[in-house]
Amino acid sequence: MTVIGIDLGTTNSAVATTDANGITTTIADRDGSRVIPSVVYFAPDGSAVVGDRAKAMAVLEPERVAMLFKRGMGAPTFLFDESEFSVDGKVWRPEELSSLVLKKLKQMAEEQLGSVSGAIVTVPAYFGELERAATREAAELAGLPILRILNEPTAAAIAHGIDASSRGKTIMVFDLGGGTFDVTVMRVDSEGEMQVLSTGGNHRLGGADFDNEIMQMIAARAQAEANVDIFAEPWAFQDAREKAEDLKKELSTLDTATRPISTGGRPLMFSMTRAEFEASIADTVEDVSDMIEITLGEAEVDAADVDTVLMVGGSSRIPAFSTLLRDMFGKEPTFSRNLDEDVARGASVLAAKIGGQIDPRSELADLAIPKDVASHGLGMTVNDSDDREINGIVVKPGQGVPSKGTQTFYAAADGQTQVLLRINEGDEEDLAYVRQIGEGMAHFGRPVPAGHPIRIDIAYTAEQIVEVYAYDGENNKLIGEVRLERTGSLSGDEKRQALAAIAGTGVQ
Ligand SMILES: Nc1ncnc2c1ncn2[C@@H]1O[C@H](COP(=O)(O)OP(=O)(O)OP(=O)(O)O)[C@@H](O)[C@H]1O
Ligand SMILES: [Mg+2]
Repeated sequence: MTVIGIDLGTTNSAVATTDANGITTTIADRDGSRVIPSVVYFAPDGSAVVGDRAKAMAVLEPERVAMLFKRGMGAPTFLFDESEFSVDGKVWRPEELSSLVLKKLKQMAEEQLGSVSGAIVTVPAYFGELERAATREAAELAGLPILRILNEPTAAAIAHGIDASSRGKTIMVFDLGGGTFDVTVMRVDSEGEMQVLSTGGNHRLGGADFDNEIMQMIAARAQAEANVDIFAEPWAFQDAREKAEDLKKELSTLDTATRPISTGGRPLMFSMTRAEFEASIADTVEDVSDMIEITLGEAEVDAADVDTVLMVGGSSRIPAFSTLLRDMFGKEPTFSRNLDEDVARGASVLAAKIGGQIDPRSELADLAIPKDVASHGLGMTVNDSDDREINGIVVKPGQGVPSKGTQTFYAAADGQTQVLLRINEGDEEDLAYVRQIGEGMAHFGRPVPAGHPIRIDIAYTAEQIVEVYAYDGENNKLIGEVRLERTGSLSGDEKRQALAAIAGTGVQ
């Protein structure tokens, strides 16, 4: 029995394991790839193909291929037009598609390590509660026991060897992947513990957006020169998407890049310069710069006091970002040793530690479990003194997790037995500016008189999943945990169906 670390990425995923001596290995699939595209192709025989072969099918049978679904975690769909993704009449939700990727990664690991007993799965630090809960659900659907959900930048820092030896150092992790941007400021305190000071970002900003910019330019050329609307032709659209990504990657090292674009007839030769690409993403670079400033401000850290700027994620290879960071911090950014695998590797180190797999004589034996902060505020709908509904804040963003807050309700009428709770994400009082995570009925267990106090404890676990408990406010006795129906999540019936569908889908 062994434990693994999984980086469930928007574009690419990886799985790693750490042995008793603290040696970490990224696991390769049968073709030798250590990073596999997070892409699922539904073959006509009902099986699901995950990885490179699925990505290759995107141009041939785009309607049977799902990608970028991490962007829709916690919501019913991930498609830009908000329509549902379905194949042969079955709708596939983002967490179900993610569970197929997890199943593939688990299989890869089991082929080499034997049975896997648990995993740490990483998420962007800026992920909200619904996305985190959906990630846990994906693992459950895949039959993969979760040891813990871990923030990606924290995993990257662990892999980079930021541990007790970095005592007193301040580190900023810049993680720009395929779908999300995360910036995290952390400090290793005098005890050698890693403490996250602040985190910021945008969970819908990444390499896929840069590809979209290039696709717009390709589309304009295809329209003008071949009279083809690539957005109306699924195969042309996929071809342009692939070529856009290739062009973008090449422009990280070259000044000009060229690719043939399919339009139905003679391919169109499309060339682009690095300067043109940089102009197309200039606004995003600005936004990224602003988010870094804000996150430093929240941590109360000056750019000059940051000892290491650690670059993670495939899109951090774009020179415009290293230039930005060099200018902001006045020092060379450090590229993580293995940009594409470090998140999975760091997760596997912590998995081995939590799973008790590390030899007490190994260097990793005294690795401290990192402490994170809440990336979003948390509250509950309550009435203010004017009887208007507001978000009563219980956890502020930036507060260390696990963390909890309390709100007290008073029964409105004699004989009341329950109250409906609405839990929100966000640190604004105005309900228009927060997101409702879900609702749950708090049962009192007996009828109570009017004015009887019921205390509600709302907690973020260490992995920022919400738990709600009701207490009798008079004697502080626990009444019970409040089951939260999450907005947009699977109902009991839907979950049983999803479990059956995934168990019945062979993954290759
Ligand atoms: N040389 C390069 N230049 C520019 N972009 C690159 C380069 N190499 C990879 N990328 C981009 O990096 C992205 C993938 O990065 P990564 O694998 O870190 O993302 P991910 O983990 O799938 O996404 P996320 O962390 O956002 O969920 C893709 O958009 C890819 O095109
Ligand atoms: Mg990533």
